[in-house]
Amino acid sequence: MYLVTLLGNGVLILVTILDSRLHKPMYFFLRNLSFLDICYTTSSVSLVLDGFLAPQKTISFSTCAVQMFLSFAMAGTECVLLGMMAFDRYVAICNPLRHPVVMSKAAYVPMAASSWAIGGGASLVHTSLAIQLPLCGDNIINHFTCGILAALKLACADISINVISMGVTNVIFLGVPVLFISASYVFIIATILRIPSAEGRKKAFSTCSAHLTVVIIFYGTLFFMYGKTKSKDPWG
Ligand SMILES: *[C@@H]1O[C@H](CO)[C@@H](O)[C@H](O)[C@H]1NC(C)=O
Repeated sequence: MYLVTLLGNGVLILVTILDSRLHKPMYFFLRNLSFLDICYTTSSVSLVLDGFLAPQKTISFSTCAVQMFLSFAMAGTECVLLGMMAFDRYVAICNPLRHPVVMSKAAYVPMAASSWAIGGGASLVHTSLAIQLPLCGDNIINHFTCGILAALKLACADISINVISMGVTNVIFLGVPVLFISASYVFIIATILRIPSAEGRKKAFSTCSAHLTVVIIFYGTLFFMYGKTKSKDPWG
């Protein structure tokens, strides 16, 4: 699965660089998303692979902290990046004549860069809050990566500050982009429905399908996991 991830995203990155017809904001964002997916998967899978090869399945505190930082940062970045992409699709379909001006290179490169900065910044806050907690149990992580939620369960101190700040972050990283993406798609769909020809409607919608697919798969999985966290015990 890891090789498939590397290959699929690698091909996508190469194609969007090599084909000059794809030198557009949407493909820049998709390329960034592919790059992010490679980093994200690598950060969590590398230790899983290591665990298959090494007999003892332990993780040092510092490796755990790095993994915690990376996975949270990547997930946050992906959320924000998907919101940025929704804005690009909104302008492309609802304001097509202004799209080249609004989504110029001077706009979309900082938009992508700020997604990385926001994801990294939030992760820095949570990781530094989490690694200060005292650990005194048997420190068994019942999960395949050292995620923040899994690590918080090991703490033998009051974690209410962590829980509250995680809740606030969840609202910001899940709620705000989802609201923003939904609002964009309401406008996009309303605009598409007003296009008179079926051919035109199909064409307009097809430019959104890549983004919409990623949004549904990514947020679908996140909500599924987050919803389950409250009920049973997916993080251990
Ligand atoms: C992703 O976006 C950042 C910030 O704009 C940029 O520096 C980086 O080169 C991009 N990565 C790819 C693979 O396009």
